[in-house]
Amino acid sequence: MTKSPVKVTVTGAAGQIGYALLFRIASGAMLGPDTPVSLSLLEITPALKAAEGTAMELDDCAFPLLKGIEITDDANKAFSGTSVALLVGARPRGPGMERADLLQANGGIFKPQGEALNAGAADDIRVLVVGNPANTNALIAHSHAPDIPAERFSAMMRLDHNRALTQVAKKLGVGVDEVTKMTIWGNHSASQYPDLFHAQVGGKSVAEQVDQTWLSDTFIPTVAKRGAAIIDARGASSAASAANAAIDHVRSWVHGTPADDWVSAAIPSTGEYGVPEGLISGFPVTSDGGDWKVVEGLDIDEFSRARIDASVKELTEERDAVKGLGLI
Ligand code: NAD
Ligand code: LMR
Repeated sequence: MTKSPVKVTVTGAAGQIGYALLFRIASGAMLGPDTPVSLSLLEITPALKAAEGTAMELDDCAFPLLKGIEITDDANKAFSGTSVALLVGARPRGPGMERADLLQANGGIFKPQGEALNAGAADDIRVLVVGNPANTNALIAHSHAPDIPAERFSAMMRLDHNRALTQVAKKLGVGVDEVTKMTIWGNHSASQYPDLFHAQVGGKSVAEQVDQTWLSDTFIPTVAKRGAAIIDARGASSAASAANAAIDHVRSWVHGTPADDWVSAAIPSTGEYGVPEGLISGFPVTSDGGDWKVVEGLDIDEFSRARIDASVKELTEERDAVKGLGLI
């Protein structure tokens, strides 16, 4: 193997998602079986010891692709020369807490991280924000990284996307791989809009194959409130499924999406589908291994329009709130 290792930075490396994520990155599940990686684990100072424990376990796996591990509480060091930055570290939502409560708590984390990415990341940097509120945290990081092209910043809708695939597959009695063209529009929050009008099974719209009451009263709330349901059940937010979605997101971005399908990701809007420019919103996207591209030209009916608009309104309000806090 002659390729030089790709540096991957994971923030919040000692947390739940970090623990589910790092081993899969090191195994090659994210960048592929031919790409060696070096991992940079960014944590806050009190969690460095726990990160060291995770690094010991990574060593003990003897992953052939893992060429180095760095553990640090210095964002500039963690992001220096990095090609993939997974911004996971944030404060998770606890029972009864609303996402808006998290804006203040988490906003301050993403400004210095945006600055550190701007100062030192590799030219091919790709950033995925997982830590909630993910879309607005990505907006904060992006707004402090003016030298990095906007399209290198993304936030995670892939967990919602995967949740939606499974709900449809179960309803129609098909495999998840038979459900294509799923889209999660808007914000990674309860206002998100999982769209079954463009999703297909057997080449036909899923909306035509299920009754409207199931679609609006069961499917949409089940997917949109799944994060809260997991918190209720586990007493902690989703971790393994979130890590899995992060792996899926980066793999699709780096290795490309299938010719006849797309995935969901939140990327900076350039005005597609009436989403105000600059908001980091969920869209149907494809990749050819370069940048994400929004799938354009989809017909949006009144039902979908109202739901996309409601979620985008929430993104606008979050943006205004962080602007008011001086975070962007
Ligand atoms: P966790 O509390 O187990 O871990 C978070 C870690 O981040 C902790 O180890 C903490 O020390 C670290 N951290 C805090 N501030 C940091 C900073 N400034 N720099 C580096 N590290 C820092 O939480 P978790 O369960 O791993 O979840 C992490 C985040 O992911 C939460 O915000 C959660 O809501 C979010 N999440 C997002 C999705 C999604 O689909 N986008 C899904 C699940 C969870
Ligand atoms: C999820 O979708 O599982 C999480 O984003 C839930 C949360 O608010 O932490």
